[in-house]
Amino acid sequence: MTVTPPDLHVPALEAVITPGLEAVETKLRESVSDSRDLIGELTEHLAQAGGKRIRPLLTLVCAQIGQPSEASSSAVIDAATAMELTHLASLYHDDVMDSAPTRRGVASAQRIWGNNRAILAGDVLFARASRLIAGLGPESVAHHAETFERLCLGQLNETFGPEEGDDAVDFYLKVLADKTGSLVSAAAYFGAFHSGTGTGIADIVAEFGERVGVAFQIADDVLDLVSSGETSGKTPGTDLREGVDTLPVLLLKRRAATGTLDEAGQQILAELRGDLSSDRALSDVVARLRAHDVLDETSALAEEWSDRAITALDPLPEGDPKTALVAFAHLMVDRLA
Ligand code: IPE
Ligand code: IPE
Ligand code: MG
Ligand code: MG
Repeated sequence: MTVTPPDLHVPALEAVITPGLEAVETKLRESVSDSRDLIGELTEHLAQAGGKRIRPLLTLVCAQIGQPSEASSSAVIDAATAMELTHLASLYHDDVMDSAPTRRGVASAQRIWGNNRAILAGDVLFARASRLIAGLGPESVAHHAETFERLCLGQLNETFGPEEGDDAVDFYLKVLADKTGSLVSAAAYFGAFHSGTGTGIADIVAEFGERVGVAFQIADDVLDLVSSGETSGKTPGTDLREGVDTLPVLLLKRRAATGTLDEAGQQILAELRGDLSSDRALSDVVARLRAHDVLDETSALAEEWSDRAITALDPLPEGDPKTALVAFAHLMVDRLA
């Protein structure tokens, strides 16, 4: 798996975005390295393994809305790099929480180095993101801190689950907004803000990012089931084995609660309650879910959130950056097509 940011097909922007992404890559390499090789190998592990870099890409696109001279300023590059570092930190920790064997096509850090080192590496990367953000001023420090707080609370709420009386699907969508939407939102906000758009426009793209982040994470839930490990770089069904009820499962449970679940769906829920520790049991339930129409319902919800993201852009003037953001929103869910 290599670094492959999605192509937004807006040629007029590419002249700035392509060198911008290269500058982010250089800064990222510096930021994940360490003077001690033994530690550098750990902290560089996932950045080197690949990834799509969608958060820095979004920062760079939003930075084209402001002053042209600021579109790839050092503040914008630092903000974009800090977004990827924060994301990376969350991946080291998430793979511990989810006992994920693989990430970005390679063994996860905790599989190679164990939980303690994987957690500390995530902390180091988060500290390095914070250092970059510190250079951007106190307002950005506060925004970044609030973002990371939401990300962690989303991850925590996912583990605690809803309270009695909460709607499980609504609760889950709030978890997605917090654990994923918050950082995608910040990536958009920082790009606009540090290119000098002012907070009005920055808030608009932040709302776009929040919604597109939810669309992206719903799509990820579908991809966790339908993609091969080679394409996603992750192990299919990881969430199911860990007992994390992602959206397809929640929608099945909702049908069960309203007495509208078909036999195939009931069989899936029964298997999920059973032992999924063997690879065979897991791949069987993954195959059944793949064949069930609840996946279409989940994909439709991802589309709906992507459309809601595009609606958030209504107040923005027409132009290349807006066209690129619309393309970005489509791309996040087109992965399902
Ligand atoms: C994975 O994010 C975690 C989610 C929030 C779904 P990405 O799908 O952006 O992962 P990389 O950066 O491309 O590996
Ligand atoms: C990824 O969450 C980590 C964060 C969003 C903070 P998930 O556990 O849902 O995603 P993957 O499938 O492992 O990438
Ligand atoms: Mg995970
Ligand atoms: Mg997780």
